[in-house]
Amino acid sequence: MKILITAGPTREPLDPVRYLSNRSSGKMGYALAAAAAARGHSVTLVSGPVALPPPKDVQVVRVVTAVDMLAAVKLHLATCDALIMAAAVADWRPVRVAKRKMKKGSEQRMLLELKRTPDILKTIAPLKGKKLFIGFAAETHNVRAEAKRKLREKRLDLIVANDVTAPGAGFEVETNRVTIFDAHSEEQLPLMPKREVAEHILDRLEAKCEA
Ligand code: PMT
Repeated sequence: MKILITAGPTREPLDPVRYLSNRSSGKMGYALAAAAAARGHSVTLVSGPVALPPPKDVQVVRVVTAVDMLAAVKLHLATCDALIMAAAVADWRPVRVAKRKMKKGSEQRMLLELKRTPDILKTIAPLKGKKLFIGFAAETHNVRAEAKRKLREKRLDLIVANDVTAPGAGFEVETNRVTIFDAHSEEQLPLMPKREVAEHILDRLEAKCEA
């Protein structure tokens, strides 16, 4: 299969030296890319800014903002059979991006006006056709309900939910504890290395592809 994977955070600039972002290290998405390439799939990895080496036999496309990531996903979507969105796309970006470093005056507070970034999965949903789309849900509460809502609203074939407050799960760590939902079932996996989580997700993807 030709698999498009996203990983890492996006960065939304405030000025030339500051940005809004999140804690994603890219480890989950890079583990998926490495595992998929090792299975012989052709893999394109759209990566936000991370400190990880490129996985072997994977084409890496580097992006910074959510708008960049959307453009890269759109560009590579046409030729792929499946998309796995493991990236933690920032949901908000500053309304104004200062051209020069914002200087401090005597003020003790500052109001920052933010606007929504594009929702990549919702934007590309009309292009889905027969392609398989897998999303992630990073939650701190109501994990099951939120995952099922995102599965439905983002028109996904599978969603991988992680409680990012659980020990050993979510951002930055080497392991994850996930539940994989489709429209009819849920599979709860124990805590395991992100590479093993990736293998489970790919097993599910390949099974859906063969069905
Ligand atoms: O990178 P690591 O440190 O290894 O951490 C892994 C992880 C916690 C980042 C990963 O396992 C994970 O949960 N990734 C998804 C994080 C996220 O943005 O979740 P969400 O619930 O906010 O978004 C739901 C889905 O919509 C995701 O597939 C996301 O990629 C996608 N999305 C989100 C926002 C947006 N503007 N466009 C999107 O397409």
